[in-house]
Amino acid sequence: MKRSALEITKSQELIYELRIEQVMTKEVITVTSSTLMSELKEILRLNRISGTPVLQDGQLVGIISIEDLIRALEAGEINVTVGEKMTRDVETVFDDESVVQVVTKFAQHGFGRLPVVNREGQLVGVITQGDVVRGLLRQLEVEYHEEEIHHYRASHIFEDIESDQTGLLLRYRVRPKDFVRGGEASSKLKRALERLGAKPQIVRRAGIATYEAETNLIIHATDGGEIIAEIRPERIKVSAIDNGPGIEDVERAMQPGFSTAPDWIREMGFGAGMGLNNIEVCADDMNLESKAGKGTRLEMIFILH
Ligand SMILES: Nc1ncnc2c1ncn2[C@@H]1O[C@H](COP(=O)(O)OP(=O)(O)OP(=O)(O)O)[C@@H](O)[C@H]1O
Ligand SMILES: [Mg+2]
Repeated sequence: MKRSALEITKSQELIYELRIEQVMTKEVITVTSSTLMSELKEILRLNRISGTPVLQDGQLVGIISIEDLIRALEAGEINVTVGEKMTRDVETVFDDESVVQVVTKFAQHGFGRLPVVNREGQLVGVITQGDVVRGLLRQLEVEYHEEEIHHYRASHIFEDIESDQTGLLLRYRVRPKDFVRGGEASSKLKRALERLGAKPQIVRRAGIATYEAETNLIIHATDGGEIIAEIRPERIKVSAIDNGPGIEDVERAMQPGFSTAPDWIREMGFGAGMGLNNIEVCADDMNLESKAGKGTRLEMIFILH
């Protein structure tokens, strides 16, 4: 029987592609063989690190970790030198090697950290598991961003539709206090915009702003309300409309941190009083009109180009 090939994830692929020097920490804190263990303790604490390479006349002669320190402290050996307690046979990696080399070494030996040397044998960095994870995330972010740009170029909103005035109207009903379906309208709108080929940046901003408007309808509007998105080739207008209770003082409601949400809503994680501010940040333009006792109309504009 033919064995199916192993599935390789994106991060596995990246681990092979990335070189150690791309993810290692270059500012290395080092100690010498004559550093006292008591001094080492302070160095580790102040720099929030769990070990350092040991240099002697600029040469890498060992590595000392927090475990070595703890062992020494337990034995009451505070005035001994690093040189007496360090591991001498240091496993190192080269800066031009693939990151997969260190991942394997971490897994095989249970190391938390490895000194990095160049081909001349000089210490040029240190690499930890955290460095690997951060490096991977950074690279994923870069490639994801490139892919988004590529994806966007492939299609464009209303590209093939010609008319004197093209528009698309999407309406979503939002029920009061319905937290289970909270976010449904905004995620459906997001998906629609993606399909229409809107820029990822705009889809994200419209998604967040609409989510905030939607939760305001759920939480604050007595009978819920409606989200209406009017999509045109050059811009999207999203309106959140309800029939009350309205806002007493719109200016005050816009202030960061202002909220009339009751305690039980706050316990659910809403009611920080940041929703309207988030909308202001995300939308290219916003307009909030409200009459106490009548209702509220919030309009948000997103420019598409
Ligand atoms: N549709 C609405 N009807 C009535 N009042 C509203 C409406 N939208 C907002 N408000 C009022 O404006 C205040 C501020 O709204 P905002 O969205 O900034 O904060 P929040 O909803 O209280 O908390 P958060 O959005 O951070 O969860 C609300 O507490 C509420 O008093
Ligand atoms: Mg809100």
